[in-house]
Amino acid sequence: MNTPVAPLVDPQVLERIRDWRGYAEAKLGFRNHWYPTLNSAEVAEGKPVPFQLAGENLLLNRIDGRVYCIKDQCLHRGVPLSRKVECYSKDTVTCWYHGWTYQWADGKLCDILTDPSSKLIGTRALKSYPVEEAGNLVFVFLGEGTPSPLARDLPPGFTDANRRVQPFRRVVNANWRIGAENGFDTTHIFIHKDSRLIRGNQTMLPLGFAPNPNSDEPLFEIRHTDGGNIGVFDLLAERGVPHFEGSVKGEVVCRAIHGGDKRIAHEISLWMPGVLKVDPFPDPAMIHFEWYVPRDADSHWYIHCATKVVAGPDADAEFAAEYEALWKDLYAHGFNDDDIWAREATQPFYQDDWGWLKEQLFEADACIMAWRKLASEQNRGIQTIGRHG
Ligand code: FES
Ligand SMILES: [Fe+2]
Repeated sequence: MNTPVAPLVDPQVLERIRDWRGYAEAKLGFRNHWYPTLNSAEVAEGKPVPFQLAGENLLLNRIDGRVYCIKDQCLHRGVPLSRKVECYSKDTVTCWYHGWTYQWADGKLCDILTDPSSKLIGTRALKSYPVEEAGNLVFVFLGEGTPSPLARDLPPGFTDANRRVQPFRRVVNANWRIGAENGFDTTHIFIHKDSRLIRGNQTMLPLGFAPNPNSDEPLFEIRHTDGGNIGVFDLLAERGVPHFEGSVKGEVVCRAIHGGDKRIAHEISLWMPGVLKVDPFPDPAMIHFEWYVPRDADSHWYIHCATKVVAGPDADAEFAAEYEALWKDLYAHGFNDDDIWAREATQPFYQDDWGWLKEQLFEADACIMAWRKLASEQNRGIQTIGRHG
C-alpha cells in the first residue's frame, strides 16, 4: 500500500483562499522561472558548489567559463554527489558510491566505473537546468524545456549599461513569501526608524505612509518591463500621507529621525518571480534590488544587490571598494539586517499556512494583496516537492 504524501500546503486553507490560491500554494516558489543562486565569483572553474533552491539540491560548476547546473542527487541510490566530489574529466562528475558518471552539460549518464557494460549507460540523465549569468549572479531556470528569456524574470533596469552590481546573500529563516511581503510592505518602514543608514547617509524616512482619506485613487499599478516581466508598483508613498510623528492617545511618543535631506526610495515595485526594486536606494545615486529565493519551505535566500551606474575601466573595482568601505556596514547591515529579524519573527504565524486566514490586513496593505493576486495569475507553474526529483 502506498503511503500518502503529505500535501505541502494545508488543503483546508487553500479551499478558503479564492483570489490568490496559486500564491498560497507556492510555498516552494514557482516552476519555469529564473532564480538567482550564487555570486558568479563563487563558482570557480572546475570547483563544483552545492546550492539549495526551492526544495531541490543542486550542483553548479564552471567549465571553460560557462556555468552548468545538475541535480545533486545520484540516480542510483539518491545520495548527494557533493558529499565527496569526484571529477575524473572536466566535463563529468562521478558518484563517490558506485561510480555512476554524469555529464555536466546535460546530466547524461555516460559511464559507470564499476560496470562499464551496464545497459543503463546512455539511457538515463540527471535533471539539469539552464544557467545564465547577469549582474555578477548565476541564474538558474528551474523548469522544463526551452527556458523563457532571462529578461522575463528580471526587474527593470537591472541590466542597464554600466550598472555595477554588488550582490550579498544571506539565509533567512522564513518562507520566501514572508520575505517578499516584508520588502514590499509600505508601512514596514516603521522598523527602520532607527536604522543606522538614516543618520549615516543623511537621509530621511517617515514612520509610515497612510492612504489619503480624501482620495480614492488606486494605491498600486500593474506594470510591464520591456523584457516582458510583470510587477506591482506601490503608489502609496506618492499618493498617501507620510507620517513623521507617532502618537498614543494624542501624545506624540516617537518621531522619525531626520538624518539629512537626501531623498531615497521614491519608487518601490515588486516583480515576478519575487524581486523588489527600490529606486533610489540607499543613496540618490544607487538602485537597490532584492530577491527572495525559496530555499525550502521555511527559509529563503535573501539576495540583495546594491547597484550603481559607473563607467570606466576600473568601474567594477571602484564600486566594490566603495561598497566595502561604506555600504556593507551602513546599508547591508545598518538597514537590511532589520528586515531579516522582522521576517524571522513573522514566520511562526504563517508556518502552518493558517496565518494566511488569521491575519487582519489594513488599508495600507493594498499593495500586498495586489502582489498576491498578480503572482497567482502570472506564474508559469508551482514548485512541488517530489515531482521534479
Ligand atoms: S548511489 Fe551513486 S553510484 Fe550508487
Ligand atoms: Fe525593509
